[in-house]
Amino acid sequence: MSASTLGSLFRVTNFGESHGAAIGCVIDGCPPGLELAADDIQVELDRRKPGTSRHVTQRRESDSVEILSGLYEGKTTGAPIALLIRNQDARSKDYEAIADRFRPGHADYTYWHKFGVRDPRGGGRASARLTAPTVAAGAVARTWLKRQHGVVIRAYLAQLGPIAVPFRSWDDVHDNAFFCADRTAVAKLETFVDELRRMGDSCGARVTVVADGVPVGLGSPIYDRLDADLAHAMMGLNAVKGVEIGAGFGAVTQRGSEHSDEMTPDGFLSNHAGGVLGGISTGQPVVVSLAIKPTSSIRIERRSIDVSGNAVTVATLGRHDPCVGIRATPVAEALMALVLIDHALLHRAQCADVSVPTPDIARRLPLEPSRQR
Ligand SMILES: Cc1cc2nc3c(=O)[nH]c(=O)nc-3n(C[C@H](O)[C@H](O)[C@H](O)COP(=O)(O)O)c2cc1C
Repeated sequence: MSASTLGSLFRVTNFGESHGAAIGCVIDGCPPGLELAADDIQVELDRRKPGTSRHVTQRRESDSVEILSGLYEGKTTGAPIALLIRNQDARSKDYEAIADRFRPGHADYTYWHKFGVRDPRGGGRASARLTAPTVAAGAVARTWLKRQHGVVIRAYLAQLGPIAVPFRSWDDVHDNAFFCADRTAVAKLETFVDELRRMGDSCGARVTVVADGVPVGLGSPIYDRLDADLAHAMMGLNAVKGVEIGAGFGAVTQRGSEHSDEMTPDGFLSNHAGGVLGGISTGQPVVVSLAIKPTSSIRIERRSIDVSGNAVTVATLGRHDPCVGIRATPVAEALMALVLIDHALLHRAQCADVSVPTPDIARRLPLEPSRQR
């Protein structure tokens, strides 16, 4: 089965192709009564859309969202919400040269073997264009999470190729085309990406997503752990090759005396757990980092095969992101929102009546961002 649906109670089904008529999604299970306007969604789509700077693909898409159903007088009704984004700037001719051959590192080879048919135009269903509906659905989820629980979800580009950009301030993230959290690093990133583009090459990235204000108790033990669902969703994002929760692989070299987050009546003293213990949220920021691979469509000629198995070379022309991590940043936020709303609704269904005498210590003394991970 080719699965295009994410979530159990807040279910998002994604449809469309890169160069088809339109892309979009249907959200089933959105709580009724949520005030929602197209602008709540558009603002997020505008952050992901292509062509916003010279450092991303130059495809020109307005990515205007149309809400087709599920709303009455500006509020959700509980009925399925259909969101449509029409494709406008498809240049399918760019892909004729690779229609009978496989781009190394792209999905061409595996799609062909699996389905026996492939839409080469813009990568078809494997295109990151299909992350736009994810962002649209994520905007609905984050609107509910913000209003219901005060959850704020933000992401930043923590590393671009070899250049690590440590967190400085959330204010800086919205100030630059890279979504990095230190505006003083922008010039260095620009020089690096300009050179990469000149060489026709690409690079990988690290993106960190943080959800603040997540209530304690979301998630389940064993298979439906919050961290497992986060990893599942984040690995569903194109080009992601690794997901870390909190200290992630850094935990390998930590000692127990360092990793375990100590608790005081006033709060946690660190957040190496990344806000999840036993698959359940601690109430601390939920922190997820993604390792993103370098874009496979590059101008540099590489060896491959054609559909008959003959040796060929492939150099991909057309418009591509030299580092997909840049535009992946808003998508990672959306995926965090989709997982959290699903778990918030599941928690409400099973455990809404539970109450314990213990204070929610994560609310007492929030850590400085630099100590959250
Ligand atoms: C926001 C975003 C933009 C992307 N843009 C491109 C692109 O321009 N060219 C390309 O070859 N891959 C791009 N990708 C990555 C491909 O979609 C992805 O590598 C491909 O579908 C193969 O899947 P996999 O890398 O997950 O195995 C992008 C990914 C993201 C998240």
